[in-house]
Amino acid sequence: MNLIERPRRLRQSRMMRDLVAETDLRAKDLVQPLFIVPGQGVRRPIAALVGQEHLSPDEAAVEAERIYRAGVPAVLLFGIPPQKDAAGSWAARLDAPVQDATRRIKQAVPELLVIADTCLCEYTDHGHCGVLREDGTVDNDETLPLLAAAAVSQAEAGADVIAPSDMMDGRVAALRAGLDAAGYGGTAILSYAVKYRSAFYGPFREAAGSAPQHGDRSGYQMDYRNGREALREAALDIDEGADMLLVKPGMPYLDVLSAVSREAKVPVGTYQVSGEYAMLEAAAERGWLDRDQAVQESLVALKRAGARFIITYYAHEWARRALAR
Ligand code: PBG
Repeated sequence: MNLIERPRRLRQSRMMRDLVAETDLRAKDLVQPLFIVPGQGVRRPIAALVGQEHLSPDEAAVEAERIYRAGVPAVLLFGIPPQKDAAGSWAARLDAPVQDATRRIKQAVPELLVIADTCLCEYTDHGHCGVLREDGTVDNDETLPLLAAAAVSQAEAGADVIAPSDMMDGRVAALRAGLDAAGYGGTAILSYAVKYRSAFYGPFREAAGSAPQHGDRSGYQMDYRNGREALREAALDIDEGADMLLVKPGMPYLDVLSAVSREAKVPVGTYQVSGEYAMLEAAAERGWLDRDQAVQESLVALKRAGARFIITYYAHEWARRALAR
């Protein structure tokens, strides 16, 4: 028997290749991130994220409706508050941009899932993901009640899913307890369980104005030299009550995504982060890559590695193009 001929016979036509393909990417696998700013009628291009915009809550509702109509099931909201302070107090305000946008989106398109990113880094004047001690390091335990308060106000505004991205220890349990106590037992938690300290968040920090003013996040984000640690982080968050997990970034961590999605007893998604998007956009702009094919390949690779869903800045565009096909 000729073992070489067998795969060749399966590659001979497009229909044959489609018939046997293992991986299928659909609009329903994608989540579109949106950056919400204060104001009305605001649509401002984000320089660091070509093609993405800062949106005021009213514009976010308009955008959400288009995203929903393209077949994307969820948006992930980040907020830029009107003011920042040491404790990130705007994170828990019902009149903050994310909470306002959530209310408007759920009113305009009730079925579309709203995932609220829960973290303090966009809200603190120092840019760290938690409150600081005198010595400038993050105080894990003092941060937990602030995160819980933020999550409760996001749930109160109508968020379907709370997504803690801060990486404090014990935060999933703290958020679950806070949500349950406030009567939001039905609000799901998507934990950024496996989040590496990564240079690939660069453009996001410009978009969210959340670059740390001093130091870096190595005290609370994971060391990218370690893969097995991801399984421990995932197990801890599942024990604490996470309904779903994320591995982040995506493309440089396909091995981790593959291992975690195989081991975890809950659905695992990934985040194709701002730096991955920027790489593709920059190379395509110079004519060094076929943009659409490279985007397609990068998303399918994440799915093949085990992602049940993908948070990506390409979600809306990809879904619109899929509709047109
Ligand atoms: C912060 C947060 C970050 C991202 C999502 N949530 C940045 C960070 O940890 O510095 C990055 C997303 C991206 O790069 O697209 N809580």
